Amino acid sequence: MALRKIVQEPSEFLRKISRPVEKIDQRLLDLLDDMAETMIHNEGLGIAAVQVGVLKRVVVIRPREEAPLIELINPVMVDSSGEQVQNEGCLSVPGRRGTVRRPKKVRVRAQDRFGKEQLYEATGYLAVAFCHELDHLDGVLFTDKALELENE
Ligand code: CO
Repeated sequence: MALRKIVQEPSEFLRKISRPVEKIDQRLLDLLDDMAETMIHNEGLGIAAVQVGVLKRVVVIRPREEAPLIELINPVMVDSSGEQVQNEGCLSVPGRRGTVRRPKKVRVRAQDRFGKEQLYEATGYLAVAFCHELDHLDGVLFTDKALELENE
């Protein structure tokens, strides 16, 4: 495993659309491991591959409780409902936080590292994390959606 450099604002790279993963090979597994290490090292709660300079539809999320990391390959939001407004930050937008309106509950389908389809149901904080990270895959940052922004 290795730490990777985090792409930060105002890099235009963060605005690119990530491409679907076609093959889960060693290179992709290394990417997942490096993303996890980089996220934890930087005290992040989620990370998308674009944030380490790789345009692949890959996300790693850290649940708050002592649960395994959630690895999403080619994630798709299949359903969302309700509404919540939470405070968010982003490893690619250091020093800024903001409140964002998101669904209260989401269902996301994705492949895991074994290529198996998984369906995740998330509410609260975890639903926010899914939405925030999936947005990264389409070049969207939380600052685009924030109702209010503040400097830390
Ligand atoms: Co982010």
